[in-house]
Amino acid sequence: MSNANTLIFATNNQNKVNEIRLVLGNMFNIITLKEAGIDIDIPEPHNTLEANATEKATTIFKLTGSNCFSEDTGLEVEALNGEPGVKSARYAGEGRNFNDNIDKLLNNLQAIENRKARFRTVISLIAEGKEFMFEGICNGNIINQEKGSNGFGYDPVFVPDGSEKTFAEMSMEEKSVFSHRKKAMLKLIDFLQVQKTNH
Ligand code: IMP
Repeated sequence: MSNANTLIFATNNQNKVNEIRLVLGNMFNIITLKEAGIDIDIPEPHNTLEANATEKATTIFKLTGSNCFSEDTGLEVEALNGEPGVKSARYAGEGRNFNDNIDKLLNNLQAIENRKARFRTVISLIAEGKEFMFEGICNGNIINQEKGSNGFGYDPVFVPDGSEKTFAEMSMEEKSVFSHRKKAMLKLIDFLQVQKTNH
């Protein structure tokens, strides 16, 4: 694979970039959309994480012709039949923020005992024009009030299995021990390492 050490990461979310750079260390060089001079908000019009991840990666591949990857993540709550899922970013409606989404989630879970939830990340990699997918899951529970101020999104109400802290009470390094995104990235790294040794 040519240029296997350099990949464009199809996101405008700086938190995701920081988390992924932490996992990669100096093994691979990640270029953000901004650094690649691409100023677009890529649509996420589909009803699965997989389809949205594909859309984002193929959009950037068509624009650049370079190896690239995207990721789409959703919070899947068991008692809400997997909601907010693919709609995690817009759960409380277009133009609403992380706090509105958390408020809606906690409201919908009021008086519900089953608090089981999971973050699921799907990565779509386009390498040499071909697509490969990787998944990472982190199981946990939704607590009934926000705790902590680190991270982003639903981090203040999500406690991963094996911890007593929410993601928002953890440093980025602590979160990465449990992180769905890290698990998916490790699969991507394994794949790229194998490609490298085969060339
Ligand atoms: P996206 O569509 O993959 O950017 O993510 C959808 C939404 O899921 C984000 O806007 C966040 O609200 C939420 N989300 C994704 N990853 C995380 C995470 O690691 N922690 C908390 N919330 C997250």
